[in-house]
Amino acid sequence: MKIKNICCIGAGYVGGPTMAVIAQKCPHINVTVVDINSERIAAWNDEDLSKLPVFEPGLDTIVKEARGRNLFFSTEVEKAINEAEIIFISVNTPTKTYGKGKGMAADLKYIELCARQIARVSKEDKIVVEKSTLPVRTASAIKSILDNTGNDVRFQVLSNPEFLAEGTAVSDLLNPDRVLIGGDTSPEGVKAVNALVEIYENWVPKTLILTTNVWSSELSKLTANAFLAQRVSSINAISEICEKTGADVNEVAKAIGMDSRIGSKFLKASVGYGGSCFQKDILNLVYIAKSYGLEEVANYWEQVVIMNEHQKQRFSDNIVQTLYNTVSGKKIAFLGWAFKKDTNDTRESAAIKVADNLLNEQAEIVVYDPKVSQERIYADLDYLNSRTSEENRALLKVLSDPYEACKDSHAIAILTEWDAFKTYDWKRIYNNMQKPAFIFDGRGILDIKVMENIGFVCYKIGSGD
Ligand code: UDX
Ligand code: ADP
Repeated sequence: MKIKNICCIGAGYVGGPTMAVIAQKCPHINVTVVDINSERIAAWNDEDLSKLPVFEPGLDTIVKEARGRNLFFSTEVEKAINEAEIIFISVNTPTKTYGKGKGMAADLKYIELCARQIARVSKEDKIVVEKSTLPVRTASAIKSILDNTGNDVRFQVLSNPEFLAEGTAVSDLLNPDRVLIGGDTSPEGVKAVNALVEIYENWVPKTLILTTNVWSSELSKLTANAFLAQRVSSINAISEICEKTGADVNEVAKAIGMDSRIGSKFLKASVGYGGSCFQKDILNLVYIAKSYGLEEVANYWEQVVIMNEHQKQRFSDNIVQTLYNTVSGKKIAFLGWAFKKDTNDTRESAAIKVADNLLNEQAEIVVYDPKVSQERIYADLDYLNSRTSEENRALLKVLSDPYEACKDSHAIAILTEWDAFKTYDWKRIYNNMQKPAFIFDGRGILDIKVMENIGFVCYKIGSGD
């Protein structure tokens, strides 16, 4: 089957970059990314590439090359569905906030709406690809909706999970460790899988393209994220032991990481992992295990999330304790709000919870993040429903100059590992702070010895010194 037109529903952090790379690498295929959010689509179409809704290093260059040639962003969802032979579903699947599975199961409302829309408007056979992270067996729900439309169109449903990490999305897409495609083993299923394999073969070596059954593919995505998050929670658990015993977690991480069976990646102790995937996918796994009555399995994975919550709580508790058990009326500067560097995404960012904890202690917070907007920060706080929107605005300020943000503060908390923070004039920052001047490095990016020489009182995650 020769693919000429691809449609992707959902122009977010996954759909946008993934389709931009497919368009760049497959100039013979038209790629249309659609979204119901017209502001988002307008931003993707903005002449000024610094206004793209997703910030990712290198993405602007790719969009510049392909946009208008074979990459299009549009709100005309039905038209794009109709024209495409392959439709990627890349809409959000947040954790349910209501009803059965509340706080744990994935909310499949948006996926189902997409499936119904595809079913309603399709006039020819199509391949539907699930790109969003989904609970195992979602493909069968999508297939059931698609197959019961009453018209004679036939659909093949594939699972093709995305493994890109934000901040490195472009290089992850250009040089993936592997591409995973799950499909049906029937002749039509194999044909559909091959059609998708052919697209990736335009730039990914065939040996790195794995094909599996649909369920293995879906479960692999949840498992990969659960394993990665588990490593972060494991090293964070050790960081607390280090603080009590005088060991240094970075030294421990280096020592264990050199064991080739363990490996050195994802062993950086931090204030806690964030992002749209880890928490959601583990909770999803826990929910699946519980729904099959597998209590031990569910409890085992849930502990990874519990540890992460504990890490955020103890970071903020530590700030309060160190500042003589009260932060009421004290100014605390936050450097960073994004859940990791090189992204403007703040979903599940540790900064949100730490800010909330400190606001409950009546601290005054001033935030600086190089890529996150003021509106986003207030929306994150409002979402917690801890206090009114007006109270959030009165207690927390957002500034666009890091030196101003730190001025007159009692303490600085580093919540994101932005490289630029390392190159600041720390002496100047120190001179303009209240004394003693405290710094809480939740990301382990600063050289503590240098900071102490300047005069800062430092807290470094996982160090008992
Ligand atoms: C993750 C997976 O890596 C990716 O494959 C999947 O497609 C989506 O989920 P992402 O959430 O974008 O990607 O970023 P990732 O680099 O995995 O970081 C997640 C969180 O863990 C961040 O908050 C990061 O700061 C934190 N982290 C990561 C640590 O605290 N320590 C580490 O050693 C690594
Ligand atoms: P992700 O990180 O998974 O890409 P995002 O929230 O960044 O998640 O993006 C998902 C996008 O999907 C949003 O821009 C949202 O407006 C869009 N979306 C959700 N439901 C639909 C739908 N039925 N049709 C079109 N777009 C949708």
